[in-house]
Amino acid sequence: MWAQAIEDALRVISNNIGRFGDKFPVTSTQGNRIYRLTPGNDWTEGFWTGLLWLSYEYSKDPRFRTAAMTTLDNFRERLEHRTGLEHHDIGFLYSLSIKAHWILERDESSRSAALQAADILLERWRDIPGILQAWGPKDDPENGGRIIIDCLMNLPLLHWAYQQTGREAYRQAAEQQTAMSRRFLVRGDDSTYHTFYFDPITGDSIRGGTHQGSRDGSTWTRGQAWGIYGFALAYRYMRQPELLETSKRLARYFADRLPEDGVVFWDFDVPQIPETKRDSSAAAIAASGMLELVALLPEHDADREWLAQSARRIVASLAANYSTKGEPDAQGLLNRGSYAVRLDISPDDYVIWGDYFYLEALMRLERGVPGYWYER
Ligand code: GLY
Repeated sequence: MWAQAIEDALRVISNNIGRFGDKFPVTSTQGNRIYRLTPGNDWTEGFWTGLLWLSYEYSKDPRFRTAAMTTLDNFRERLEHRTGLEHHDIGFLYSLSIKAHWILERDESSRSAALQAADILLERWRDIPGILQAWGPKDDPENGGRIIIDCLMNLPLLHWAYQQTGREAYRQAAEQQTAMSRRFLVRGDDSTYHTFYFDPITGDSIRGGTHQGSRDGSTWTRGQAWGIYGFALAYRYMRQPELLETSKRLARYFADRLPEDGVVFWDFDVPQIPETKRDSSAAAIAASGMLELVALLPEHDADREWLAQSARRIVASLAANYSTKGEPDAQGLLNRGSYAVRLDISPDDYVIWGDYFYLEALMRLERGVPGYWYER
């Protein structure tokens, strides 16, 4: 069943190679299910390259490799001209593209480009309050002291850079950002804030909030999913038991609130009724994160079974009920992703990261291939 879903996905990706050429699909389609193409200056281009690498790993079809390689020049140029890199999502961009190339083929020029990307990410470190600033320039009045739960997925690039070079600054930033995220973004009931604000001058903690959730104190499902996966990856690199525990707790919160068909709505604190928009991408991210947890846990761990079962349940429903398998002209793999429902930005669309994590989860299930977050 997983193999069939992968074959269906690869057909779409193969068609997209012809459609996209040397450009990238934008972050999400905007209501019309057709990707506008960009030269590449946003936070999501790595997902298209990551999809191509996963497709190549599965099929060994050289078309996928050639297409992936074609995209890499753009990531290198962006480093040279610093195009669209003024945010923390450098980790998403470079882990799945350039670092993936190093992981798969040990290409030295990609290793050094990935280290350069890590250096640019590290420039976002602020000694006070002791955070990686997610968005905006230094001293930005709104974002100067703000962290975002999504950032946990950008930290593997820093951990990896530390492994490669032994330079302490990478490790310290990644570890402190993880600790601050655990302390301030995770609430007592194992739900999460999307973002948290600190005073950038004094470092004082101010308040939790949201950007894409329904309200400041709600639990945005994709944020919870980033947390599950991000703390699991942090544990893989740092081996601190409390990080494993946190990831499991966030996963339990998520699994306990799955709707009947296993694919979450966009926020856990909006009416959980059929009319509410879903976020298939949150489901895919959480499933792949749960499978990462399963890979980390010893055989006898009591949580392994429900984690594996929840992940399988989610991915099976995505494949059966949300994938575009019966739609020959589809440009996306998953229907019903949402970017930002409250802000009315792609509330019910294809979102390129949803496609990436869906194929990544399928590859974990079918082949045990974990994506490109760490060395294999
Ligand atoms: N990392 C941005 C998002 O999840 O929308």
